[in-house]
Amino acid sequence: MINVGVIGCGHWGPNHIRIFSQLPDSNTLMCADLDQNRLTQLSQQYVGLKTTTDYKDILSNPDIDAVCVSAPTNLHYELSKESLEAGKHVLCEKPLALTAAECEELQEVATAHDKIMMVGHVFVFNAGIVWLKKLIESGDLGNIYYAYATRTNLGPFRYDVNALWDLAPHDISIFNYLFDAPPLNVSARGQTYLDHSLEDLAFATLEYPEKIIANIHVSWLDPKKVRQITIVGDKKMVVWDDLDNVGPIKLYDKHVEKTSTYYATYGEFQMLSREGSITIPKIGFSEPLKEQGRYFIECIKENRLPGKADAEKGRQVVATLHAIQKSMQLQGSHVVLDETSEVTQ
Ligand SMILES: NC(=O)c1ccc[n+]([C@@H]2O[C@H](COP(=O)([O-])OP(=O)(O)OC[C@H]3O[C@@H](n4cnc5c(N)ncnc54)[C@H](O)[C@@H]3O)[C@@H](O)[C@H]2O)c1
Repeated sequence: MINVGVIGCGHWGPNHIRIFSQLPDSNTLMCADLDQNRLTQLSQQYVGLKTTTDYKDILSNPDIDAVCVSAPTNLHYELSKESLEAGKHVLCEKPLALTAAECEELQEVATAHDKIMMVGHVFVFNAGIVWLKKLIESGDLGNIYYAYATRTNLGPFRYDVNALWDLAPHDISIFNYLFDAPPLNVSARGQTYLDHSLEDLAFATLEYPEKIIANIHVSWLDPKKVRQITIVGDKKMVVWDDLDNVGPIKLYDKHVEKTSTYYATYGEFQMLSREGSITIPKIGFSEPLKEQGRYFIECIKENRLPGKADAEKGRQVVATLHAIQKSMQLQGSHVVLDETSEVTQ
């Protein structure tokens, strides 16, 4: 049994408390938050859950094997590092840290202490996204032309990071997973409309290897809650809609063929659109956060690296966020990420 302590019990932390209480090989032993009222509610809900307003009580508890960090983003690095140094395995919410160098350091500290350092890129554990990955690998879509992600809603607003840092880690981690690489370069626009000096929306265009263009639209100032990704290949096209519980994936047997016509003698050709059926594959439902928690516990028990969401994956996402932020500051300029995904301008 892996005993887990959760640091940060605001909006999201209680979900981790629930997951680690439900999984067969783990138990949430303790949780920490600065807000005593929050802790009182949680101790009433979970019999035997110990609570504290000082997270260091979790770190010094020898019965705790692993820590889940679900505090505000600016504390991720510090809390993860201290937890690793205290000999705990760590699952930290996204984005892993505020700089790529901090992510690298977290991996080094984890290696030095022989502990697991994993980041909460929860969408790589989403059954629909895993299905998309298999679809791409099967070659069914053909070569990928482009993709776009929309993640919008009216709120919830954050006051520690902007809409880019809040929402885009999900889509960047999804695209990096699907395309097996971080982006090469980005260009982006964002704007601060509400009066708290944080960008409320971003339109970011990322170029991946093989000429794949991926666009990300994130906003907490939008009339509609949307969680969608469209991928266009040269054989088929697919749309994933996370809010569609019945059939989140629609596979379109559509593509364009370049066909020589009687104009061929003039070196011309015609574009013919081929339209087949739309398939809605059956995707078994499993809660992504539970799958993420299960993977974390398995990695601990089997002493294997969390390759699907390790600190390096976290670093690639953070480096991309920096590149997008920089491009937004430069009013949409092209910003290059080098081979190690650092921003080079
Ligand atoms: N994976 C997802 O889909 C998802 C969804 C929501 C939030 N998140 C992430 O989860 C994290 C928390 O987000 P949230 O929405 O719950 O934020 P929140 O502001 O609602 O909660 C953060 C909590 O951390 C507590 N806290 C602050 N400093 C602390 C400290 N030193 N010790 C203990 N507790 C401390 C605060 O009191 C607060 O209750 C963020 O990193 C966010 O990006 C992820």
